[in-house]
Amino acid sequence: MKATAKANTNIALIKYWGKRDEQLFLPMNSNLSITLDRFSTTTTVHIHTDRKEDIFLLNGQEEGEEETRKISRFLDIIRMQTGEQWAATVDSINHVPTAAGFASSASGYAALAAAATKAVGLELSDPQLSVLARQGSGSACRSIYGGFVEWKKGERKDGLDSHAVPILAQKEWDLSILSVLVESKRKKVLSREGMKRTVETSPFYTGWLEAVKKDMQLAKDAIFRRDFEKLGMVLESNAMKMHATTLGANPPFMYWQSATFDVMEQVQELRMQGILAYFTIDAGPNVKVLCEPHNEEKVSKILKALPTVQDVFICHPGNGVTYLPTSF
Ligand code: ADP
Ligand code: DP6
Repeated sequence: MKATAKANTNIALIKYWGKRDEQLFLPMNSNLSITLDRFSTTTTVHIHTDRKEDIFLLNGQEEGEEETRKISRFLDIIRMQTGEQWAATVDSINHVPTAAGFASSASGYAALAAAATKAVGLELSDPQLSVLARQGSGSACRSIYGGFVEWKKGERKDGLDSHAVPILAQKEWDLSILSVLVESKRKKVLSREGMKRTVETSPFYTGWLEAVKKDMQLAKDAIFRRDFEKLGMVLESNAMKMHATTLGANPPFMYWQSATFDVMEQVQELRMQGILAYFTIDAGPNVKVLCEPHNEEKVSKILKALPTVQDVFICHPGNGVTYLPTSF
């Protein structure tokens, strides 16, 4: 009764920002991402029928009560489905910085959903697996699939129609996504807390909801037409609008650091020189820069030369969740 699964992180081109139901992780708005071929989580789940307490190991270290409680809450959903009592040892390795805006929660819960259901012998379809992963961390529902993925917000109260849908396979359009590391420490305001505070207190949030619908349509059109410039314009503008909502929150907060601005300015400068590059930023100070593969080396070198940039990782669209042989 054990299984191992690997899931890649994903980067949102049109952001998920705000929940309409916090228990079920139902989003206010549909959103869109690319699953990456680098940065992943590998999770092994070992089921014990003779034990009551779950154990959560992250990168070889046993996690404390708060993190383990989140894992147990998620495993409770699977325990309800199996109708049996069991405990699990969850042994997870993040090949990505944890809680630094590189989407460790997305790869983490996609890998956990896949490994845990396999370990207990539950056979779920991909949409069902996506619905389950969503209840660990919203963005995780997108990492079940590879390539370009839409998370349809759904209408139902029980959330069964709120899951990801693949819209373009990774091989259909190769883009370069440069993950620019300026800070690898855990952030102070987690995405969950940040989006909640924004929905509850930011007067700019209604503006976000109006704009994001249009941005989704523009981004999907650009993807179907393989129009890089159009996609770049809308993803950069969407990220700016998401971050603007945090400035209106009470108390206000900001995920950017001065190094974040350095990268943003450099990307805009590159465009003035005729190189098509666009940035997006999730809930953290690090920046992802999209460009076309023929420009990736050049753009990466220029960004790496900035004194406040620690490293640049070149990524491409990657695949969805996979199962691995179990090693312990
Ligand atoms: P990130 O930008 O890395 O996704 P978030 O604030 O969205 O940051 O999520 C970080 C949280 O995700 C962590 O505090 C932890 O609760 C959870 N998480 C990270 N990695 C894993 C993992 N491998 N398995 C389960 N949960 C994880
Ligand atoms: C800014 O999926 O980490 O990265 O559902 O509360 O776990 P929870 O939040 P999470 O939020 C991601 C927010 C974002 C945008 C995105 O990935 O779409």
